[in-house]
Amino acid sequence: MAIENAKQMLLKATAEKYAVGAFNITNIIQMKAVVKAAVRKKSPLIIQTSVSPSKFLQPEVLGAVYRTIAEQAPIPICLHLDHCNDVDYCKTCADVGYTNIMIDASHHDFEENIRQTREVSDYCHARDLSVEGELGTVSGIEDQVIVAEDAAQLCDPEMAIEFVERTGIDLLAPAIGTAHGVYKTSNPKLDFDRLATIADMINGVEPTTPIVIHGGTGLAPGVVRKLVALGGSKFNVSTELKHVLLDTTFDYISANRDQYNPGKVDLAVTESIIGCIEKWMDLLGSSGKA
Ligand code: 13P
Repeated sequence: MAIENAKQMLLKATAEKYAVGAFNITNIIQMKAVVKAAVRKKSPLIIQTSVSPSKFLQPEVLGAVYRTIAEQAPIPICLHLDHCNDVDYCKTCADVGYTNIMIDASHHDFEENIRQTREVSDYCHARDLSVEGELGTVSGIEDQVIVAEDAAQLCDPEMAIEFVERTGIDLLAPAIGTAHGVYKTSNPKLDFDRLATIADMINGVEPTTPIVIHGGTGLAPGVVRKLVALGGSKFNVSTELKHVLLDTTFDYISANRDQYNPGKVDLAVTESIIGCIEKWMDLLGSSGKA
């Protein structure tokens, strides 16, 4: 039951109006912690890696560890490659055990975005993997790639329909004003109407192409609930996990300067990550859905 691609998991979430958290991890301790939280919460789970940590840890290693953990877990788990702008690396990860691939060619013009996304879709579909594509540009910093807010263009609903049809993607990430990293304001300007229109045009009759919300860190709980109610069914959270990892490590070491026991740092990080993920799963409504 446990190894799943994202489409299987998210069609159910879209129909039942909850979202599955997609959490970016940068090491194996975090990977195990997010799985522990999901098992406790009986929630489906998407584990994500950005391209840099994927290359650093090696995609074959990540794929093998994911498959070992997921096969033992009583919940469905997907391993997703996040924001990859390199078609060849998408294929590499598809070959070594990832079950969902995001080809992010959104910085190219429409036709080139379609061409690259279609190539990854065809490759992944032949292997029973699902694919996420992005239209418009999500601003902020992801994996050291900086997109200025004024360069962030929002997703055009008519183009979204054409994009989905011509690329064959399984999940659509439309730019609606959310941003990667820490929001500069407590009340970021999000285009809820645009999300509602896109979700209705694509999934209004029956769920076919789940919608992905990027930039989860720092959004107020009421905003998160609204984005889910309007049709977001994959919810990406990255920066918050990095903060939890580094802050917990710093706090633990500061409080225990004489102790040289890495296992205790790992344990402290695990507990903090579990707390963070459980909070997100309750907020997204995925607790109890596995
Ligand atoms: P945050 O870093 O803002 O949580 O965004 C995560 C994300 O959208 C990853 O694709």
